[in-house]
Amino acid sequence: MIKRILIGLAVLLLAGCFGLSWRPAVTPIAPPKADSFTPTQVAQGALLAAAGNCASCHSAPGGPAYGGGLGFETGFGLAYSTNISPDPATGIGNWSEAAFSRAMREGVARDGSHLLPVFPYTHFTKLSDDDVRALYAFFMTRPAVVAEDRVNTIGFPYNVRALQGGWKLLYFDAGVYQTGAAKSVTWNRGAYLAEGITHCAACHTPRNRFGAEQAKAAYAGAPFDGWFAPPLNAANPAPMPWTQQDLYDYLRSGESEAHGVAAGVMASVVHDGLAKLPDADLQALATYFADNNGSAARAPTAAAALSLAMSRRLVDAGRETEPGANLYLAACAACHYSPAAQPPAVQGSLALSTAITSDDPSNFIQTVMHGVGGTGLPGPYMPGFAQALTDADIAQLATYLRRTRSDQPAWANLPAAIAARRPPNTTTP
Ligand code: HEC
Ligand code: HEC
Ligand code: HEC
Repeated sequence: MIKRILIGLAVLLLAGCFGLSWRPAVTPIAPPKADSFTPTQVAQGALLAAAGNCASCHSAPGGPAYGGGLGFETGFGLAYSTNISPDPATGIGNWSEAAFSRAMREGVARDGSHLLPVFPYTHFTKLSDDDVRALYAFFMTRPAVVAEDRVNTIGFPYNVRALQGGWKLLYFDAGVYQTGAAKSVTWNRGAYLAEGITHCAACHTPRNRFGAEQAKAAYAGAPFDGWFAPPLNAANPAPMPWTQQDLYDYLRSGESEAHGVAAGVMASVVHDGLAKLPDADLQALATYFADNNGSAARAPTAAAALSLAMSRRLVDAGRETEPGANLYLAACAACHYSPAAQPPAVQGSLALSTAITSDDPSNFIQTVMHGVGGTGLPGPYMPGFAQALTDADIAQLATYLRRTRSDQPAWANLPAAIAARRPPNTTTP
């Protein structure tokens, strides 16, 4: 591991030194007139911008859409998103389509400097010419926001943008998505969307020390902003396999009977990002991931997994003296108790949720601290318990539910994991 890091650093430095990474500036242009684009292009661009989460990364909290200024922890300091509104002085108003396309496809800014991979150009490189043009049309027709870009806090030597040229040699494969002949048209459409504009792997694939997604561990699950984006491959720990229908339901509505709801940032991916995509596109994404996770091979054991999970819904009565059980009965059971043999559509069975079965307790802790929904997005609601429960209470609940709702070993290090996720100004033990 250490050896690979050292080799990596050496290559980055060498590439930077030899100027392998030098790229010319693209001549600035006068901002294009709005009527140089067709309404169809602009509408298609709006849909792609939503699916690509451009607004959630390129808007500061409370700030104007696309004005930039949101900070991202890179491991080497903060990188700020930039102003991508069409203001010619502080945004990208004087970028030609060629300059915009090069940024999306190669991660190079108009002035020739390399962009950091926090900007998921490593995925956007897969976009077709038509889709890049539609995005350009959309951004050039937004209201101009006057906002200077914030200066990143990344320290030397990592702030030397030429080094990104070396990074690209090691970790970046440029190029438009290539259709895989062995698969159906729908599967290919799903792969195009997943690997390109919706960049699912940016959160669901683990990264190496230099922020590159690990190709060998595609969709193997990764921590994201205090949560854990579960594996979308065969290692997914949900008791029930994620079938094509389950994935479609979840991506379309944020809810799946056999799995529960999309919470945290995934709620925003579904309700803000994917919401405008047509059904056919969501069916395509579902087809791609249902194949990727091998759910068909797990189908024969699904019925047994369901009845085991459902048998765990009535295990609490009579255990009031066990640590965690009384808390669960007092604070949670009113909503999470269901005598039905099938999982209810909302208030799903906890025994079916990866928040309980995952090796990583983050999503359980976050759900209990912050609840579900209630942010103005559609969907079911669970209150947050950060004020009502202490760290020790949450640890007891976690231990109790993991023991009674799964076959997995107890979570280690719960106190530290809970303390790290406690919101400021809330109850402490
Ligand atoms: C995960 C967050 C994230 C997402 C999603 C994202 N960006 Fe960015 N983008 C960034 C960051 C951070 C930078 C600045 C990178 C740097 O400083 O090297 C950036 C830079 C850019 C740039 C270069 C601008 C300049 O002034 O140099 C363009 C163009 C851009 N993004 C367009 C888009 C578009 C279009 C989308 C949606 C399809 C998008 N971005 C989605 C984070 C994001
Ligand atoms: C910005 C980061 C991010 C992006 C982008 C993202 N996800 Fe997620 N995803 C998460 C997180 C975090 C969770 C865990 C939250 C939860 O379970 O409610 C999650 C949960 C999920 C789950 C539930 C898995 C399980 O077993 O519980 C599925 C399925 C999923 N995502 C699919 C996708 C797909 C498909 C895409 C691309 C279209 C995508 N995600 C894009 C962060 C992301
Ligand atoms: C007012 C009703 C209500 C109460 C009280 C409640 N929940 Fe929930 N909970 C929900 C709903 C609704 C959902 C989302 C539906 C789903 O996941 O199927 C949910 C989801 C969850 C999830 C799964 C999150 C996911 O990603 O799918 C966990 C874990 C959870 N609750 C734990 C708890 C615990 C522990 C307590 C007690 C401290 C509790 N809940 C109290 C209504 C409630």
